Amino acid sequence: MYSKISGTGSYLPPNRVTNQELTLQLAEKGIETSDEWIVSRSGISARHFADAGVCASDLGVEAALRAIEMSGLDKNQIDLIILATSTPDHLGGFPSTACVVQRKLGISGCAAFDVQAVCSGFIYAVTLADAMIKAGNSKHVLVIGAEVFSRILDFNDRTTCVLFGDGAGAVVMSASEQPGVLATKLHADGNYSDILSIPGKLANGVVEGGGFVHMDGPAVFKIAVSALDKVAREVLELAGMTSEDLDWLVPHQANIRIMQSTAKKLHMPLDKVVATVAQHGNTSAASIPLALDSAVRDGRIQAGQTVLIEGVGGGFTWGAAVVRM
Ligand SMILES: CC(C)(COP(=O)(O)OP(=O)(O)OC[C@H]1O[C@@H](n2cnc3c(N)ncnc32)[C@H](O)[C@@H]1OP(=O)(O)O)[C@@H](O)C(=O)NCCC(=O)NCCS
Repeated sequence: MYSKISGTGSYLPPNRVTNQELTLQLAEKGIETSDEWIVSRSGISARHFADAGVCASDLGVEAALRAIEMSGLDKNQIDLIILATSTPDHLGGFPSTACVVQRKLGISGCAAFDVQAVCSGFIYAVTLADAMIKAGNSKHVLVIGAEVFSRILDFNDRTTCVLFGDGAGAVVMSASEQPGVLATKLHADGNYSDILSIPGKLANGVVEGGGFVHMDGPAVFKIAVSALDKVAREVLELAGMTSEDLDWLVPHQANIRIMQSTAKKLHMPLDKVVATVAQHGNTSAASIPLALDSAVRDGRIQAGQTVLIEGVGGGFTWGAAVVRM
């Protein structure tokens, strides 16, 4: 028994903000940046921001409906929802955003929970869904990555606020006799928790110590490049493959330079790398399913092809999966 992706979907909130627009908005506050700096350091040209009052669950539901529609299933056939986010609807993810999505989809009863592995969240969620299907616990799992990252961005901190965006992506993973998920590998190293974090802690019902993302960009860059290369090789070995067997690389969309470096180390040509970071920015747990869905819907990724998905994020966490579509 395998788990196989039976549908993909994604959703971006309509408010698209270009580098030029963001640069003007920041300039009004005396913060200097430029389209040239953002593009040359990250490859990002634009990102989408959700309107006030729009939550991760709202974006997640839209992505989920599209994935369920592609799968050809009735939404009531979903028997587990796993949602990855660092920006849950409720403080502390209590109740989980997965439960909020379940209610908004009108499919109460099935199990639902959130996963927190920051930008690696989608890889963690796919790994869990695969295990639940292989164990016979679930037949059709809705896996969602959904973020309103703009809520935790400090728009006075130019080193972070230009890099992230909002959005959601989803896949339906179904039990199948045909090979789907071929191998997965997850890692974490809590020794690096400080280089990418929200430092604040809850005390007496309020956040003490800051509720915004804090990042040591150069440190993250260095660890990300080596961690992604290592885990890509590990997961390929588990699948009994080499990078030559891959049709596509769908990496976490944080920075085009990290993606180019990963592809180069794997000897994969750049035209096999799905890159949406220019238009989406870093949407954290949503970035991989957003990129995957865009390449499925524009016809690049075809049924039967083999895809490597990989991610890295706060924790520090990282992981990869080899998937036959
Ligand atoms: C964040 C990142 C783009 C910064 O690029 P970098 O080349 O390392 O740049 P630095 O942080 O060394 O900063 C270089 C200069 O640009 C300045 N700078 C930072 N943000 C800026 C901005 N938005 N606009 C203009 N200048 C900026 C810095 O102040 C610094 O100036 P200084 O040299 O006078 O001190 C890069 O480190 C990166 O992509 N890291 C990984 C981030 C990531 O992927 N995070 C998510 C992981 S899930």
